Amino acid sequence: MLQVNPFSEIATTLPSVFMKTFVVIMILSVLISTLLDMAHKKNAKYFFINLKKSKDAAKRKISASKKASVIAKTVASDIMTTAELGAGQRRIAHLLGMYGSILFWITSCIMIFNYSNPSIVTPSLFPILWHLGAIMTCLGGYWFWFFLRVDVSAEGHSWKRIIRADLFVLSLVTASTFGLAWSFTQSSGLIALSGLFFILFVLSNITLFGGVYWSKFAHMFYKPGAALQKNLSEEDGSRDWLPEPSDKPKKFGLGIKRESARHY
Ligand code: HEM
Repeated sequence: MLQVNPFSEIATTLPSVFMKTFVVIMILSVLISTLLDMAHKKNAKYFFINLKKSKDAAKRKISASKKASVIAKTVASDIMTTAELGAGQRRIAHLLGMYGSILFWITSCIMIFNYSNPSIVTPSLFPILWHLGAIMTCLGGYWFWFFLRVDVSAEGHSWKRIIRADLFVLSLVTASTFGLAWSFTQSSGLIALSGLFFILFVLSNITLFGGVYWSKFAHMFYKPGAALQKNLSEEDGSRDWLPEPSDKPKKFGLGIKRESARHY
């Protein structure tokens, strides 16, 4: 199963042009929905107004080489390893889900555009990475869903409670889960079940990429921009109009150590 390209197998019944068109529609949906979301939330407008205001409030000029090093640090730390999530389970779960999804999406595109034809042999590396990506996404996504979600871990709600904010994580994990189930049933020769899982796989992808306007999907574009702005404002001294951290020793008494801060 791990070495079989499921898109090539299904191409005997579903012409590959449909799969390619589907991918293009999904990419366009992400682009258009993100632009609509930006227009609705006015976050791009806020970003540029804030950029200008912090330039005026800057206490020192940042040289081109310093700017390049801040950008490199933001990419390496805030974006590629999601430093905002601190050290711990939340960050590991997020990295699993993030790199799993990236692997899954890239290999899906490669296999659909280059190898969704039963007469072309797919190098086994791509299906292996596709399955690995789906498994990583499930591990990170279900870990987050059952244990780390703020509603569950801090607010005491049951993991079964679903609200609109869960649209992103749920459609992400169901797409990977149904993808794996489809591949497994297809390689086991369970034709009817494999057809069912394929339909569920397609529907969860439509929810994931078609629901961008209503879900948290676009955070993967906004968060890097916000991190870069924060790091640059720290460097030029404008600090988003926040005071410098105190150089005095921390004195909070014992109370703060009684319970870890998780009621947010
Ligand atoms: C392919 C890329 C990415 C995927 C698949 C992904 C996936 C997710 C998921 C499923 C969640 C949980 C959403 C929820 O609250 O229901 C999440 C939250 C979050 N993501 Fe991402 N993400 C991606 C990229 C990024 C990037 C690039 C950053 C930062 C630069 C980032 C920062 C965060 C943060 C700070 C949270 C809140 C985490 C929490 O509440 O524990 N993500 N992401």
